[in-house]
Amino acid sequence: MTKEFWIGDVLSGKYDSSEVELCGWVHRTRGSKKIRFLVLRDSTGTLQCVIKREIVGDECFESLSNALIESSIRVKGIVKNTDREHGHELVVESGIVIGHVNPENPFPITESAMSEADGGETEFLLDNRHLYLRTGRMTKMLKIRSTVFGAVHSYFRDREFIEYQAPNFVAGAVEGGSTLFEVPYFGKKAYLTQSWQLYAEAAMPALERLYTIAPSFRAEKSRTRRHLTEFWHAEMEIAWGGNVEVMNHGEALVRSIAGTLLEEREGELIELGRDIGLIQNYADSKYPRMRYDEAIEALQQKGVSVEWGQDLDYSKEKVLTQDFDVPHFLTHYPRIAKPFYHRPDPDDPKYVLCHDLLAPEGYGEIIGGGERTWSESEILERIDEEGTPREPYEFYIDVRRYGGVPHGGFGMGIDRVCAWLSGADHIRETIPFPRDSRRVTP
Ligand code: 4AD
Ligand code: MG
Repeated sequence: MTKEFWIGDVLSGKYDSSEVELCGWVHRTRGSKKIRFLVLRDSTGTLQCVIKREIVGDECFESLSNALIESSIRVKGIVKNTDREHGHELVVESGIVIGHVNPENPFPITESAMSEADGGETEFLLDNRHLYLRTGRMTKMLKIRSTVFGAVHSYFRDREFIEYQAPNFVAGAVEGGSTLFEVPYFGKKAYLTQSWQLYAEAAMPALERLYTIAPSFRAEKSRTRRHLTEFWHAEMEIAWGGNVEVMNHGEALVRSIAGTLLEEREGELIELGRDIGLIQNYADSKYPRMRYDEAIEALQQKGVSVEWGQDLDYSKEKVLTQDFDVPHFLTHYPRIAKPFYHRPDPDDPKYVLCHDLLAPEGYGEIIGGGERTWSESEILERIDEEGTPREPYEFYIDVRRYGGVPHGGFGMGIDRVCAWLSGADHIRETIPFPRDSRRVTP
């Protein structure tokens, strides 16, 4: 069985007055003993189908009339241009039910079930996530997400980057031990990777420009609007470049994602209530850059209690984003606030050559990156001062022992970028099956 016709094309007027055969799911249905109005849904839209007993005959009429919400059906008919809701409807001539829904076990997601659910609407929808995926909001989010993934691939491939994969079972931390997931590994311990970076650096002398899109794992105990335990990470690494070159790529990448969304998903963004002018601005503007010290000063002036040397958590980033209507970079964090791989600034080694990109509208960090410590003596000094054992990082140190070069890269949280650009309240709205400290089901 192949599907030839799509509701989206019918709505665009492509098949006016023609016969089409549509396959999809029953979205809504109402009517009388003679005529039935059935709203059919497929992945491209919804369309009203008008089913008249006198046209389709008793047997077909009964079977389509009894098809409950989310039954799958196939209907053939003529497309009519109307002045009703969608501008088009299908005058059905014949049809069959493909996948029945048992009346004793109807589709569980209903307004009343949501309002009556014990754990509240949010938990109810998370429990039924596998079914919630087919609702309009999730479908739009998933399409936006796909476009963002595509834009990342295009950005890097258009610039001769090589896509490269790192292992997900690893022996050491990249982003500090506190968020490592430990997994039993044949009598030993392994961890789920927090980032592709260290293994990308090993391939940097082979490929010079490389990127990936892969899951990263962090045992984030606190549940927040922007943390998942399994998130999708777009990362890049370049040889012969430093903090500024890496930042330029981050800025250009985010601008090009915003631009691609406007080209491919303007309709979905509008339907989600997003202000397109904002996205246009993110696609067109330059992103300002400020040093960590300036950020601390700005925060203190606003009466936020913050000490020099702290990494900036979400509550502080949120305040900082109020001063900007486009993403902005924070650079030169104190060395003590960042992991060992960040390169100390030769002009003032109290700081490292790094950057975070903060998304506006209160969203905060979407990118973290910078220049890498690239000489053997400096990396050993950094590992030792952090009190990290050298042993799991011998391969990483070797990259410096054999022809080290200046290099750097960044990681961008794709789910966070999707949340920001789609205007979602919570990161879990953007990923099909969100994982956090309390949920690994469904
Ligand atoms: O700032 P982070 O920790 O940087 C790194 O992992 C570097 N090793 C990346 C690199 O240089 N190659 O993480 C990078 C980004 C963050 O800016 C954030 O957008 C996202 O990954 N991220 C998360 N997204 C969702 N849930 C979480 N728990 C996340 N942790 C980080
Ligand atoms: Mg970070």
